[in-house]
This record gives sequence, C-alpha cells and structure tokens, in this order.
Amino acid sequence: MRVGRLESSVTIETPAKLNLFLEILGRRSDGYHELESLFVAVDVRDTLAFSPSPEGIELVLGSGHSPARPLPLDGRNLIVKAAKLLQQETGTTHGCRIVLHKRIPAEAGLGGGSSDAAATLVGLTRLWNLNVSREQLHAMAAQLGSDVNFFLDSPLAAVCHGRGEQVTAVPLAGPLSFVIVKPDSGCATGEIFRRVSLTESPRTVAPLVSALQAGNARAIGREIFNALQEPALGLNAEIENVLQILRQSDVLGAGMTGSGSACFALCHSRQQARILAKRLVSRGIGTVFSASSVI
Ligand code: C5P
Repeated sequence: MRVGRLESSVTIETPAKLNLFLEILGRRSDGYHELESLFVAVDVRDTLAFSPSPEGIELVLGSGHSPARPLPLDGRNLIVKAAKLLQQETGTTHGCRIVLHKRIPAEAGLGGGSSDAAATLVGLTRLWNLNVSREQLHAMAAQLGSDVNFFLDSPLAAVCHGRGEQVTAVPLAGPLSFVIVKPDSGCATGEIFRRVSLTESPRTVAPLVSALQAGNARAIGREIFNALQEPALGLNAEIENVLQILRQSDVLGAGMTGSGSACFALCHSRQQARILAKRLVSRGIGTVFSASSVI
C-alpha cells in the first residue's frame, strides 16, 4: 500500500492479491472455513483519494475509470462500510469524499474490495487524525471481511490462517511474474465454499514457502494449488477453458485465485508475461493483464 499526502487530502494506491495456495482445513461453527493460504500482493492497483467534508461519506468513481460492470457506490460497497465502521468505532463526526480509480476487477478472487477496505481504514485514520492502534484497525478489518487484514499490513507475501485474517509475512527471494485472466462471468464466493468437500489429509503450504524463500521458480509453479478450484469449475465453465489455455502456454504453473473467477499463470519472466498477455488478449477469453509481485 502506497500512502501519499497532499495538503488536506490523502491518496492511497492499494494492490491486488493472488492466492498461490489455498487449502481448506475444516468447517467452523460460525459458518466460515478454516484456511491455510499463501497470498502474494501484485502490482495491479486501485487508487483511492480521500478529502475532508463536513459530514457523511461520499464515494465516487474517478473520471475515465469505468469498471467492467456497475459498482455499487452506496452502503453495499466495502469502502463505505469501512468508513462507517471507523466512524462508529472512534465516535468521530468527520465526513469525507472518496474518489475511487478502480483497476482491480471485481468478483475475481483478486481481493479488490478487501484491498479498498483496508486502504479506507488507513486513509481515513490519517485524514481524520484518529488515534487508532494497529490492533484496533485489525479488529475492524476482520469484521469487514476475511482478506482485509492481509492488505492492512501490506506484506509482499504472507501465509494466512483462520478465516484468512491471521497474517504471517513470508519473504520472497525475487520478483514473480504472472499473467492474469478474468473471465467475463464472476463467481459467488459463498456458493463456492458451500460446494467444497473436505479432505482427510489436507495439503500443507510448507513446500511452497520453502520454494518462495529459495527463489525456485519451477518448484513454486509445481506447488500452485487451490481447493476452491474444483467446486468453481462446476459452477463456471469459463474457468476450465481459461486454465486449459494457460496450461498449454509455456508457463511454470497455473491456477485460480481465491474463489475465482480470475486465473493466473506463473511466467518465466516479466517480458514473457507481457508477451503472453498480449497474445491472450486476442483470444477473447476475458480481461487479460500481466502483473508482478510487489517487490
Ligand atoms: O469474509 P468474506 O466476506 O470475504 O467471505 C465471503 C463468504 O465466503 C462468507 O460469507 C463465507 O460464506 C465464505 N467464506 C468461508 N470461509 C472463509 C472465508 C469466506 O466460508 N474462510
């Protein structure tokens, strides 16, 4: 997360994420699932500009940025929810205007909404000069969604446990380059989780963490895994098609991120990722872009 300050306004650039690994360890009594997941922040970023206003929370889209599908800008948006939660928890009566430049596709498993929510907590704490501890921000983040905590700390990569909100940073030996494809149709997260069948012997993230620390790109590619991929394939035929196309390309590994529908391939280099992305654009399989880990 990059934070800038200009006179009375605060601007934040906040990244997307890819899940290189996601295993389900069990079902919880609160309806959520216990996870083990490896998150990597990638340089596809939303920008949020926060400026003061006497009262209320106003969210608008930046000019020239029209998301692929209409985005709610009212109380349904996680940005507005985050701003209201911060007001409620701190008792502040300040208002704000938030201009959102949306580049991270929604309903993709790329964490765009969660990243925006984390940016809102950080941005408004600065804008309103609030005295809020990291612990309080993390408690609010966990209330907003399972992925928000990852973006709050903004590590390059992390292993996440619990619902996803327990974040342990993991070092990366070097940059990772990806091609990301977001099929036109999205995935409903809740429905995908409902279709998961639990395994007796869950996989562990340890070999992937070792590969990341050693910078062993082939081993990283081999360890890409997502337990939500199977149920997602049953709900969205576009995902299978995209994964097949990615696997047929000269890449180190491919998988779906989060609950989909975006899929990614780990490439040999940034240049190869750019060339492959250009080639895939012409196939009309969705929104295609190349991205690198944030390093
Ligand atoms: O926490 P978040 O709002 O991102 O979760 C969306 C939905 O995904 C939840 O309502 C739940 O159905 C499912 N989920 C889950 N286990 C998790 C995370 C999410 O079952 N660890």
